[in-house]
Formats: sequence, C-alpha cells, structure tokens
Amino acid sequence: MAAGDAGIAMRYAGSVIIVPGYGLAVAQGRQKLFEFVTLLQAGGVRVRFAVHPVAGRMPGQMDVLLAEAGVPYDAIFQLEDINADFPDPDVALVIGANDVVNPAARTDKSSPIYGMPILDADKAKKVFVVKRGEGKGYAGVVNTLFYADNCSMVYGDAQAVLVQMIEAVKSLGLPVAA
Ligand code: TAP
Repeated sequence: MAAGDAGIAMRYAGSVIIVPGYGLAVAQGRQKLFEFVTLLQAGGVRVRFAVHPVAGRMPGQMDVLLAEAGVPYDAIFQLEDINADFPDPDVALVIGANDVVNPAARTDKSSPIYGMPILDADKAKKVFVVKRGEGKGYAGVVNTLFYADNCSMVYGDAQAVLVQMIEAVKSLGLPVAA
C-alpha cells in the first residue's frame, strides 16, 4: 500500500493505536512520527501509543524515544494497560516493530517466541505495518500478522514513509478540529 494512502486513511479514522519498534529507532523517525500524530490529532483523531516491554533493543527504549519526540505521557500506554483495547481503534499502525506483534507467540508452540506476551495489534479492524521489506525481527521468525486479511504492508524506511504520510495529509487541506 502506498504510504500516502495509509496516511490519509488514518486522517479519516476515529482512533489509531501506534506500535513503535526497533525499526523506528533505526530510522530515527521519532520527530516525523510526532509531526504526523500532531496532524492526526488536529483532525480530531484519538491517538495512543502501545509500548511492549521488550520493543527495541534496550529496556525502556521506546518510552525514551517517544518522550524525546515530545509525545505526552498520557498518550503512552504499556502492554497490560492497552492490550484489551486493540479491537476498538479503526487502525493499528505498526511502525518498525515485528516480534512484539507476532501472533505466532500466542498460537505456534514450535515458535521460539511462543508464550511471549505480544501486543494484539492483529485484533484491530485495520493494521498498517511499516517496514523496509521482508526483513525478520530479532527472533528471526516469520510474522503471520503480515499475511492477515486485515493487514496492509507499507514498505519503506520508517522516516521516509512518515514524510510521505505527512505530505499526503497536508495535501488534503482539511480544517483542524476546534
Ligand atoms: P524487531 O522484531 O527486531 O523488528 C524490527 C523490524 O524493524 C524488522 O523486522 C525490520 O524489518 C524493521 N526495520 C529495520 N529498520 C527499519 C527502518 N529503517 N525503517 C522501517 N523498518 C525498519 O523489533 P521489535 O518488534 O521492537 O522487537 C524487539 C525484539 O528485540 C524482540 O524480539 C526482543 O525480544 C528483542 N530484544 C529486546 C531487548 C530489549 S530489552 N528491548 C533486548 C534484546 C533483544 P525490515 O528489515 O523489513 O525493515
């Protein structure tokens, strides 16, 4: 799916949950992510961030990344506080994350990540996954989410994709919410 189309779909959503992962840190995309989120919020979209305890490569890496980007603390939720809500948003945006949203952890007893708690992004009505290509996550396993009917892949470097999403939403010229 084209990045611009995904961005526009989120602009017209009622609510979005964003799952950041290691690839967002690699892409140094946090400022562009915040700019995109600000655009969505200006349009009245409810935006929350879902943080997995081992997302990234260091403890607390995603919390630090989001805080440095300027995301307010009350928009950042830990796994246990948001996981039950994934069926609610119109869109789950998985950006640079892989293992932490792999449903195989729930269902595939032969998987090395079986039993690891995951963020249930696959339960959202629509899922957009931003990554560069077919690269696997740290655990080196296939992610069944990427093949699900409700999932669209948006291929590209996370920062470059966010730039395209921002441009697409701005090009709509929509009024901001009061
Ligand atoms: P990962 O499962 O490692 O997946 C990251 C994904 O980001 C990759 O599939 C990669 O796919 C994509 N990516 C890389 N560079 C990108 C870029 N520039 N733009 C867009 N996407 C990019 O990440 P996760 O979901 O955050 O999970 C973390 C993993 O690390 C877990 O398995 C965890 O157990 C492990 N780990 C965590 C820690 C701590 S304490 N956090 C410590 C050690 C290990 P493409 O190559 O296709 O882009």
